[in-house]
Amino acid sequence: MTAVRVSTGSLPGWEEVDRLVVEAHRDALETHEGEVATYIPRLASVDPELFGVSVAEVDGAVHTAGDAHATFSIQSISKAFVYALVCEELGHDTVRERIGVNNTGLAFNSVMAIELNDGHPMNPMVNAGAIATTALVPARSTDERWERIQRGLSAFAGRRLELDGEVYTSEADTNQRNRAIGILLQAYGRIDADPLAAVDVYTRQCSLLVSATDLAVMGATLADGGVNPVTGERVVAASVARDTLAVLASTGLYERSGEWLFEIGLPGKSGVAGGIVTVSPGKGGIGVFSPRLDRVGNSVRGQRATRFLSRSLGLDVF
Ligand code: DON
Repeated sequence: MTAVRVSTGSLPGWEEVDRLVVEAHRDALETHEGEVATYIPRLASVDPELFGVSVAEVDGAVHTAGDAHATFSIQSISKAFVYALVCEELGHDTVRERIGVNNTGLAFNSVMAIELNDGHPMNPMVNAGAIATTALVPARSTDERWERIQRGLSAFAGRRLELDGEVYTSEADTNQRNRAIGILLQAYGRIDADPLAAVDVYTRQCSLLVSATDLAVMGATLADGGVNPVTGERVVAASVARDTLAVLASTGLYERSGEWLFEIGLPGKSGVAGGIVTVSPGKGGIGVFSPRLDRVGNSVRGQRATRFLSRSLGLDVF
């Protein structure tokens, strides 16, 4: 059982954080449970042993262990940052009304959730809400929408993020379900842009390559009220960072969001390639990457390392 440090205003000293990041990595290496995702065919060929842990503090200090610089596709974690970009453009009330902030209690790719809610996507973290959110990015063309998303997510990371063309093609060839969700949203009048073009941009945003350290810096940008602590760039307003974290706390881990909040005590977002970003408001971001997933699609080692760090660093907001 990890020792629990009571949450205070600041993190422990630099050397102590460094030591605990290495210990979190070593501790989570003990588990070999979980399976890599296969429903996107390209993801099945990843090395399942890759495992990186990174913490970025709001003062810009970065601590790493293991394969913290190995890259992988961001997948659903992109939803959190595209949501922030759209809130920045359209504001709290419009996004709340169009996309919603409540948990569906159902899987991330549920069609039934759309049907049960009169076509309302419910929240920006499930696929329906994420596709509808991507469609809201103001742009005159699909290419411009994509460029804005790529530029915005890169600003969160503090470096230009590139597309993994193989992951994109692999998902685009097999994402009939997401295309169906896009068209269903259109049938309910919940999406104004071309739904298939929106699904295509959504598929591209999911295929952006990041490392555990990129995720930590992206998380630290939300923790820092919207300012990237490494580059000093303001990416979104403080109110937008706050709104994004509130939505992550209730919906970031889908129908498991309650369990996640109970165990970790922080807003977080997972992706099927094995990444998880977690945010400790005012303190920093945690990025982890390990491709072996549990039954609902969350990285097994990633969850264990995040739990270790939340407790040992005193990050838990409760
Ligand atoms: O749309 C999909 O199914 C994938 N591009 C992303 C799913 C995902 O990462 C689910 N999260 N845990």
